[in-house]
Amino acid sequence: MLWLIVLLVTCLYYISRKKLQYFSSRGVRTLPPIPFLGNLAAVTFGKENFVEAIANGYNEFKNERYFGLYQYLVPTLIPRDPELIRQIIVRDFNAFSDRGVHIGTDCDPMFGRNLIMLRGSTWKSMRTVLSPAFSATRCRSMAPLMAESAEAVVQHLKEQVSGELLMDVNEITTAYVNDVIASCAFGFAVNSLKEPNNCIFQLAKTAVVQDTTQVMKFFGYENMKTVLKMLDVKIIKRKHAEQFSQLFKSALNARRENLAGPRPDFIQTLVDAAQGKLKQEMELDINSNQDKCTEKFTDDDLVAQAVLFYVAGYDTTANLINYFLYEMAANPEAQQRLQQEIDTMPGGEDVDLYEVVQELEYLEMCTSEVLRLWPLVGSADRRSVQTYDFGPTYPGSQDRLVAPPGIHVWLPLYSLHRDERYWTNPDVFDPERFTSRNKAKIVPYTYLPFGTGPRHCIGSRFAVLAAKVFLTGFFKKYSTRCTERPRRLCPRAFILRPAEGFNITVQPRN
Ligand code: HEM
Repeated sequence: MLWLIVLLVTCLYYISRKKLQYFSSRGVRTLPPIPFLGNLAAVTFGKENFVEAIANGYNEFKNERYFGLYQYLVPTLIPRDPELIRQIIVRDFNAFSDRGVHIGTDCDPMFGRNLIMLRGSTWKSMRTVLSPAFSATRCRSMAPLMAESAEAVVQHLKEQVSGELLMDVNEITTAYVNDVIASCAFGFAVNSLKEPNNCIFQLAKTAVVQDTTQVMKFFGYENMKTVLKMLDVKIIKRKHAEQFSQLFKSALNARRENLAGPRPDFIQTLVDAAQGKLKQEMELDINSNQDKCTEKFTDDDLVAQAVLFYVAGYDTTANLINYFLYEMAANPEAQQRLQQEIDTMPGGEDVDLYEVVQELEYLEMCTSEVLRLWPLVGSADRRSVQTYDFGPTYPGSQDRLVAPPGIHVWLPLYSLHRDERYWTNPDVFDPERFTSRNKAKIVPYTYLPFGTGPRHCIGSRFAVLAAKVFLTGFFKKYSTRCTERPRRLCPRAFILRPAEGFNITVQPRN
């Protein structure tokens, strides 16, 4: 028996060694990989976040246009050169139209249906159906729903905070974002601070938070798909998928029967799409994709897109607000200037909140800077669908990678945002980088908090608006203060967040 195990381990070791020579045999630089674990040993053992694993190579190979990294045994190319990044995500999009990790409906019927996982023409059709839900017109009508949820938080703080209070602000921001998504995507009015046991908040907290197990499942699917399928491992557990499904379908049916009248939310978009009412709005929105939708989608497909708000929008938007509150706490002068700007906001029922929030210039500068320092999704992924010539490894090099279809690409967003070649004092919070004059000087493709090209974040307008509506409500009444900088990123999380949480002092303004 023992010799059989030794034989098996030896065989696996040699297979692993062979796979881990992919880059070195082609002249592509890579940090020394570890058998089986590739370059993710520290990530696996909870020592660093995977954006730090990317940063190790990014900072080491300063002269390369790209370098290699192994997600366990999967060779993954990291482009460093902004021009190469443009080619991959914009110019040659047709060669990189898929995402890296693919979890199909055969593995996870709900997760496999969402826009992030879809491929080819199915992705294109679904993107066309969903785009109007995030148009300026729709976001404008969602702004008052967001304001109601923000007001609920301020009201809660009024009852809880008389002097100053040290708190993990994630508790209030996740409640707010849950209420916004419940209201804007599912059509339910909930107040998660008052009723923390409401089923949709419980579901959000248990089903989709990007914790350690979720991250390991993702990497597992890429490296040992058959094993995970056999073990019936799902990103969204069957029980949670059923609960989400019931919730959303009941809301969808009520809307179809027009029981509660139309509401400016996501469900309405889906109902309108089915009835062909969206054409006019799509024509108004210059960002919407006006290609013809060629596929028919079932209610299960639609449920998966509503859950997408939780999968892609819940943790990200809450942490955008958290980091913002933290940066204001750490930079009191910026906070004061922001509050002065917010104090000038016109109020009243007739005000177009969407317009008013867009006009707050300093709020926009601070939001952009928070997203530079803390791009919540620190790396975006692609996978090639055609043979691709990545060009010389560095300018003038004889080595070049010509890869067959299937090569994984990770875009190093976090590293680009902190590269001193593109940003002076990159670790310093400085909103002045985003005045309209300075913005024009940013090197193209070095600032990509929402990615770019046809697969850019579909929810960016929604997320930024939700964050701004919360922040204007909050900073009108409260200030933040803190003494400690977050020391390290939470390892094994896809979303950037500090390992120690966001402990910030909140105090009412005079
Ligand atoms: C601050 C909040 C957010 C950040 C920083 C963020 C960032 C990103 C990034 C970097 C990508 C990859 C883009 C690329 O590959 O080029 C992405 C994709 C995506 N995001 Fe967001 N996101 C946020 C909020 C949201 C929200 C609220 C939604 C709402 C549903 C959302 C839905 C998506 C979807 C569906 C994709 C995949 C798009 C596709 O493959 O076609 N995101 N996001």
